[in-house]
Amino acid sequence: MSAASQSGGGSRRSFLTTSAASTMSLSLLDRAPAQPAGQVAPGRGDVVPLSLKVNGQEHRFGADVRTTLLDALREHLGLTGSKKGCDHGQCGACTVLVDDRRVLSCLSLAASLEGRDIVTIEGLAGADGELHPMQQAFIDHDAFQCGYCTPGQIMSAVACVNEGHANTDVDIREYMSGNLCRCAAYPNIVDAINQAKSQMKET
Ligand code: FES
Ligand code: FES
Repeated sequence: MSAASQSGGGSRRSFLTTSAASTMSLSLLDRAPAQPAGQVAPGRGDVVPLSLKVNGQEHRFGADVRTTLLDALREHLGLTGSKKGCDHGQCGACTVLVDDRRVLSCLSLAASLEGRDIVTIEGLAGADGELHPMQQAFIDHDAFQCGYCTPGQIMSAVACVNEGHANTDVDIREYMSGNLCRCAAYPNIVDAINQAKSQMKET
């Protein structure tokens, strides 16, 4: 990880953490409007009806108003591809796409994402099962060992390319710095992204 990314000033990791924290605060405000006299806003432990669009499919379920997107995906929708590494916005294992932007699902409240387009690692392959170029590139370059960080790495890598932040190895390392890999597969991850980025431009 570069010093720049650790120092916080404008790094992707600090951006993601700050954005997610802001989203959480705003969403709490959204879900707790001023109530008419005699009514109580949803609070701790209250189950509320939620509707999430994940991988093109609408899901309706009830959950605690405080449920994070990561817990909603894993525990309510059975989508366990997104991993819980730290649950504190520090490792990137839970990265998903929301309206094509990468988001740390452990720091995002599910209730704040109704009506948004959420894509997880389960939704990346084509309908016919053909792997996304980034998934295939991770396999081709052995860009993982234990694989725990891999879904988050792949989702982040797709966004990194689409953002135009994969032009050089230095850029890739900087804009992937929010995704940690305890197995230190970083050189292979960079190689995989370099392979996939040209294929993604062709599609
Ligand atoms: S589990 Fe979300 S950043 Fe680590
Ligand atoms: S492959 Fe093991 S943590 Fe990244």
